[in-house]
Amino acid sequence: MTHTLPADWLLSLEGKCRLITGPKDATEMAFELKQRFKDTDGIFSLLTIPITRSVLDQAPKLRVVSNMAVGVDNIEIPACTERRIPVGNTPGVLTEATADLTMTLLLAAARGIYPAIMDARQGKWKTWSPTGWLGTDLDSTTLGIIGMGKIGRAVAQRALGFGMRIIYTDPQPVSYSYATQVPLDQLLAESDIITLHIPLTAQTRGLINSKAIKLMKPSAILVNASRGPVVNTEDLYTALVEHKITAAALDVTDPEPLPPSHPLYSLSNCIILPHIGSATRQTRKRMAELACDNLLAGLEGKPLPNCVNPEVYQR
Ligand code: DGY
Repeated sequence: MTHTLPADWLLSLEGKCRLITGPKDATEMAFELKQRFKDTDGIFSLLTIPITRSVLDQAPKLRVVSNMAVGVDNIEIPACTERRIPVGNTPGVLTEATADLTMTLLLAAARGIYPAIMDARQGKWKTWSPTGWLGTDLDSTTLGIIGMGKIGRAVAQRALGFGMRIIYTDPQPVSYSYATQVPLDQLLAESDIITLHIPLTAQTRGLINSKAIKLMKPSAILVNASRGPVVNTEDLYTALVEHKITAAALDVTDPEPLPPSHPLYSLSNCIILPHIGSATRQTRKRMAELACDNLLAGLEGKPLPNCVNPEVYQR
């Protein structure tokens, strides 16, 4: 286990396996774990630790990798598949928490909450100002959802409650009757707010770059609670400085964490959170429990409840 987690999240592992754990907030694979790779049957990982081909090469007995996240971009899946190692993830249990956080970002950006808080704290609130701290209505504005999977749909459900019109794009033909599927360029051009809910892959890396931003309205707001590298950070910074779009609200960044000296932090039209989309006590516990279920199934040679490379089970 690449990190130490609360014991009550891991109850199902008790008596089933011998755990060797890395430290609580490890930023890299702990030295003690690397030394034990040759005897390791399963890895329980978090999204911050790369599980590379070289890790797999050092762990010849490995039978399962269980990631406590829905995203698995930290894992070299083809290398696992070649070795017939199933990889587990934790979809579903974090959908509502991530959709809630997306709405938090969306509302905060639309109403300029970050500069308003800063101004109140810094004594810039002198009176009720008819023209001060003006945001934008959500009612009747267009929300563009890029990626209409579970989280995208949960965001759509919430946005409908705010009276928004929804358009979306997805590589798959998704049927969602309360919204219209449109090509990406149309979504970029028509949306007042754009929110990203796609995994990080070779195809989605840098999807939101200067070319995509050029298609957006100058009043557009970009929300990202998926993976940082889906947005080109430099291009976003330039767009925000030059007011090519109005604001961005990011739960994820590239690089991650974004160093405190990064110029994006200096912009009042950019909200940055430390990747907390699924960070509720209930959700994180459920994610850990599901990751334990995947791990145990893999150790017992059973199909994982949530497997991202089910082809490992084909003969
Ligand atoms: C995930 O699960 O992939 C999120 O980024 C963290 O919950």
